[in-house]
Amino acid sequence: MLKIAPSILSADFASLGSEVAEAQAAGADWIHVDVMDGHFVPNITLGPPIVQAIRPHTNLPLDVHLMIEHPERYIGDFIKAGADIITVHAEACVHLHGVIHLIKQQGALAGVALNPGTSPYVIKEVLPNVDMILVMTVNPGFGGQSFIPETLNKIRQIRAWLNELGRPDVHIEVDGGIAEETAPAVFEAGANVLVAGSAVYGKADRAAAITTIRNSVAH
Ligand code: DX5
Ligand code: ZN
Repeated sequence: MLKIAPSILSADFASLGSEVAEAQAAGADWIHVDVMDGHFVPNITLGPPIVQAIRPHTNLPLDVHLMIEHPERYIGDFIKAGADIITVHAEACVHLHGVIHLIKQQGALAGVALNPGTSPYVIKEVLPNVDMILVMTVNPGFGGQSFIPETLNKIRQIRAWLNELGRPDVHIEVDGGIAEETAPAVFEAGANVLVAGSAVYGKADRAAAITTIRNSVAH
């Protein structure tokens, strides 16, 4: 149930193949890939060719977080490149229900992300359709920011709605400022996929870093 997803945003971009392989050997469950377009968020990172390049270096699911405008234009390219899970931002989708359908139709799991300032009611109507909700615990754009504690109530609310719907297997992922100090609270609130960028790739011993986060929560 508990999954740790190291974010390659904090990895060495010149050595991504060995960086993802090392995360897998260190006990990661998924590899989190942050895609930024310089419009939806101020930063620019990577696109489908990089996903394709890292794909042969791990057999873990590639969890692709699209922080981009018009994500529907690129879903097919990312899935062809090897993405297993595609998460789009609710704030970037006028036709969110349709975009979720598009992701699933092309064979990936569908996630929807919410910025810290976005109400959980924005995704309430699509909870029957999603495989994952990503609750951003920082404002997206950069690694190494501080966890925003007000996001805990949103996690609790979404977990309660999923339980009411009889969909306890839908993942709730958290992303931003997750480390051994913040992991227990998000897990207690109902999150089960913990993205960690600097808390894993910022450490020399990635296996120890992953184990520390995993052991910090009672699971
Ligand atoms: C932030 C990205 C995160 C980022 C997290 O916009 O979506 O995935 O890599 O980095 P840390 O864990 O360092 O806060
Ligand atoms: Zn992310």
